[in-house]
Amino acid sequence: IADIFDIKTAGDIVTDLVLTEKKNHILTVRINRLDRKNALTHDMYTALGDAIEQARDDSDIRCILYTGSDECFTAGNDLGDFSAGLPGEFEDTPVGRFLLLMATSNKPIVASVNGPAVGIGTTMLLHCDMVFAGNNTRFQMPFANLGLCPEGGSSLLLPSWLGRVRAAELLMLGGAFTAEDALRMGLINRVCEPSQTETTALQACARLAAQPPAAVRATRELLNRSGGNELKAAMLAEGKLFAERLKSPENAEAIKAFTEKRKPDFSSFS
Ligand code: COA
Repeated sequence: IADIFDIKTAGDIVTDLVLTEKKNHILTVRINRLDRKNALTHDMYTALGDAIEQARDDSDIRCILYTGSDECFTAGNDLGDFSAGLPGEFEDTPVGRFLLLMATSNKPIVASVNGPAVGIGTTMLLHCDMVFAGNNTRFQMPFANLGLCPEGGSSLLLPSWLGRVRAAELLMLGGAFTAEDALRMGLINRVCEPSQTETTALQACARLAAQPPAAVRATRELLNRSGGNELKAAMLAEGKLFAERLKSPENAEAIKAFTEKRKPDFSSFS
């Protein structure tokens, strides 16, 4: 399936805003930019994607865990980086590469989520195999609110998983929802006390790591196959429109409003 996606390799960008640790066959990838609510920059996406390639190439790694802290998973894309637009074709951008790698990883991916899980902080979870969320989690996909459009395959996966109207509500109104809501919708496996989320996720990782590895890889490949070409096409279509929307006056107003700590005013747009 990775061939279908034709993913490019990245350069050697190193950032301490994403920390990785390999232990007991588990590669833990920690988003570590708490002063900015773990907002993700281009270099951080590169590091997040590199972890998947590292796991793919290291037979000793049997599971990947994405995590943040007890208070914060990620506030999504760095809003400052948005103003610079997307550097190049979507699949060649750090975020595009990361999302395509997630969708095609041959190793299982688990997420431990607490606090804000905004934008890609929610959509990246659609490519995880198991997700554990603290009862302090606030999921949100405020793409339309920012004058943008869905990404990460969410416009394809959410309608088929949740039904059209629930997907449209989450993507058009972009409201926040709780871990209990996410559990009800089948987007996560369990709601935890925030201090226990990562431990619970690590227990799941340990169980995955103890399973026969080739059988787990085959299972992930089959679970992913349902998407295949269609998922890649959706991600690329989303990426193209997203790049266009980043240049829109609607997005400019939304970002300006965020920096000025006020509500955006879309009343003059047609
Ligand atoms: N990009 C860049 N900086 C961000 C950020 C982002 N996505 N999210 C938060 N920050 C910054 C804030 O600007 C703030 O910086 P400051 O201290 O210089 O003012 C700092 O991180 C702390 O964030 P703050 O908004 O004060 O925290 P909060 O707990 O009140 O709210 C959020 C947390 C996540 C609800 C809120 O920060 C938010 O809505 N962020 C934007 C999320 C977003 O739209 N992401 C893009 C999705 S496509």
